[in-house]
Amino acid sequence: MDKFVIHGGGKLRGTIMVGGSKNGTLPLMAAALLTKGVTSISGSPHLQDVATMSNVLRVSGARVYGKRHELKIDTATCNHFEAPYDLVKTMRASFYVLGPLVARYGRARVSLPGGCAWGPRPVDLHLKGLEALGAQIKNDHGYIEARAKYLVGATFEFDKVSVGATAQLVMAATLARGVSRLVNTAKEPEILMLVQMLRKMGAQIQELPDGLKITGVRKLKPVHITVMPDRIEAGTYIAAATLAGGSLRIENCPIDHLSAAMDVFSRAGAVMKKAGPRVLVVQGPKVIKPMEISTAPFPGFPTDLQAQLMAVLSMARGTSIITDTVYHDRFTHVAELKRLGADISVSGNSAIIQGVASLTGAEVMATDLRASAALVIAGLRARGTTKLDRVYHIDRGYEHIEEKFNAVGARIERIKEAM
Ligand code: EPZ
Repeated sequence: MDKFVIHGGGKLRGTIMVGGSKNGTLPLMAAALLTKGVTSISGSPHLQDVATMSNVLRVSGARVYGKRHELKIDTATCNHFEAPYDLVKTMRASFYVLGPLVARYGRARVSLPGGCAWGPRPVDLHLKGLEALGAQIKNDHGYIEARAKYLVGATFEFDKVSVGATAQLVMAATLARGVSRLVNTAKEPEILMLVQMLRKMGAQIQELPDGLKITGVRKLKPVHITVMPDRIEAGTYIAAATLAGGSLRIENCPIDHLSAAMDVFSRAGAVMKKAGPRVLVVQGPKVIKPMEISTAPFPGFPTDLQAQLMAVLSMARGTSIITDTVYHDRFTHVAELKRLGADISVSGNSAIIQGVASLTGAEVMATDLRASAALVIAGLRARGTTKLDRVYHIDRGYEHIEEKFNAVGARIERIKEAM
């Protein structure tokens, strides 16, 4: 398992480029199953999670090929409607193939995703929604078996906002017979990009004040789509500049998807200036200011930036409170940040962070994707050397993050270790 050795203390200076959205690419790949032919996705990030989703599609019989940052998915040979546990357990978004498979082929057998680093992540909304559309669902030894001669349009209200369940049901409803109304859908930009792709494929989807109206069609056609930049990667770089100091020019930055994040890091003291439609210049502050903040579904402050913000506030001048309203136990990074000298306590779904004057390098362990990003940026600021183990977590969501940071003044070495 690869390790990072991070030599802290240097400020960041220079230009850093944002890649394609991981969480945007994965549902687009699943949507390819809704049609026969070659779907092409440009600007996709070269990440482990995209490779895993490619393998899930290959199990269904699809051919997945293409150059770096370009995916071609040919579903003409799809003939096996299953997603196996050994793949789904490594990446929860594999579960998104359930809806498209049952909508297009009338049946699917998809492994339930396991939990994740910070606890159970249920899929009850995915299943209730598919049942509302007429699918027969049964849990067979950890696999969800879904069957439906055809899906039937229905009204379904999400009792909480779910990105994955919204993606799953929008895709399934496009081929249902009749009209579906999905109420209290996720508004994340990645969902809107999926809706754009489905419309281009021929789906009839209308945005309503409280959700989406989908009028089922008989057939969809394969299309080409370009992936939007990754707002969470971009937010991670804003956090890095805020904590490590210096000035970062972030290119291919989806500024329109970052209002809440930019507001929060400005409140922490960062000075941000738009230098082009997708160019943001971030100046780190001398003093980091404390705050009280809660995460929320889009357009609120994203839970996927919660760990990175906590690393920043660990050196604020005062006490901060971060409450995660999306995942109540997403705090595995707290123990690791404390090894670097942070002073954090957790109460329920809130973390209380007493700012400290400095962080000092230590050996720490990555537990999940965004926690590892938080530890990398904390290591950039910490005095001395930070050793980060299990770097495969970060490789799931950030393409060569050490190369990008080293190009702007960081000193991160990747120590390759045989598995
Ligand atoms: C997506 O996960 C993202 N993953 C997550 O990013 C992100 O943290 C999350 O949305 C919230 O924004 C991808 O897009 C691949 P949810 P998802 O369904 O869809 C509860 C990252 O770091 N819930 O919106 O799985 C759930 O427990 C990853 O890139 C149910 O109760 O998240 C949570 O409390 C981590 N029942 C809340 O809803 C369900 O059936 C939001 O989860 C589904 C979800």
